[in-house]
Amino acid sequence: MVQESYLRKFVAPEFIYGSGARLLAGRYAKNLAAKKVLIVTDQGIMNLNILGDLEEVLIEQNLEYEIYSSISPNPRDEEVMDGAAVFNSEECNLIIALGGGSPMDCAKGIGIVSSNREHILDFEGVDQVPLPSPPLICIPTTAGTSADVSQFAIILDSIKKVKIAIISKTMVPDVALIDPFTTLTMDKKLTAHTGFDALVHSFEAYVSNASSHITNLHALDSVRLISSNILPTIHDLQNQKLRSKMMMGSLEAGLAFSNASLGLIHAMAHSLGGLLDLAHGESNALLMEHVIDYNFYSVPEKYLKIARVMGLNLKGLSLDEKKDSLLKHITDLKNQAGVNTNLKKMGVSKDDIHSLALKAINDPCIVTNPRRPSVEDIEEIYHNAF
Ligand SMILES: [Fe+2]
Repeated sequence: MVQESYLRKFVAPEFIYGSGARLLAGRYAKNLAAKKVLIVTDQGIMNLNILGDLEEVLIEQNLEYEIYSSISPNPRDEEVMDGAAVFNSEECNLIIALGGGSPMDCAKGIGIVSSNREHILDFEGVDQVPLPSPPLICIPTTAGTSADVSQFAIILDSIKKVKIAIISKTMVPDVALIDPFTTLTMDKKLTAHTGFDALVHSFEAYVSNASSHITNLHALDSVRLISSNILPTIHDLQNQKLRSKMMMGSLEAGLAFSNASLGLIHAMAHSLGGLLDLAHGESNALLMEHVIDYNFYSVPEKYLKIARVMGLNLKGLSLDEKKDSLLKHITDLKNQAGVNTNLKKMGVSKDDIHSLALKAINDPCIVTNPRRPSVEDIEEIYHNAF
């Protein structure tokens, strides 16, 4: 059967994209019958004007609110449970997430825990959430995670030290207010890390074995936008035009991966984030070439399409040379963005590799990787990333 005939669904929330989108939060909350709002954010956002602006638009609509901000960079199960307790005790009936992936994933978790009255870890896997969340509005402040349009939430099981993936339509936000202005607060490092997270989302969605015509359109356009704008943005952090292009690239990557899912890079990065609490975007970036090298010959035409979209001239090269050209281009892009770490520099020990690989192979993102790896394959890829 031709790929265009495969059964595929495409789920996305209502989203408003553009300058000032975040200031519509009060009106949307009111339309969704909010009485009291739980704002879920993190310590990094607490001192920024964008929180004050959100409070102001809620006050304008005569809405009460409570703020929950006890969230780690890799949001933990107990933080979700504490947030749900605050939601219930304060008698909130709507959630607004303001921040990057951590507050948004935590907010999604708080929503399903408060409606289902079960522990967050009970929802692990695909379609394991019986009841939908209370209304959820997401305002992303990074151009990378795309949790604001996705049906994914990644939560740390703090006892087993493993990140679990919850994938459910019940966690697609009701509204995403995507305002590129919010990303002006990111420094060079965060801009680079979140940008590479988004780039990996588009790569993995495009080569995913659950991809479709619609997800491919978004994935490739996202590759184009992010790969051509990430370096200019890092060197001109206050440029709103560049920030807008990165935000659009991140949005398109999110639309693609939320529906086509991800792959081995994310499975291995989740494992690193769970065991060693490493930064998500940086973990993805450091694994990128190693996983592409492993996957390449399963779907060479797809990787070559990505290479062309990134502007590479592959004429006259053998397939091996084309692969090397793509890998070198990614390494150069990372070096120029200042993302040139490896597992050793990140403090990973070779003794950790076996347990990292065992966790990665059980991550749901691995199911859609174009090549099915063994534990030994994953161990070898981690070794190559030292
Ligand atoms: Fe990611």
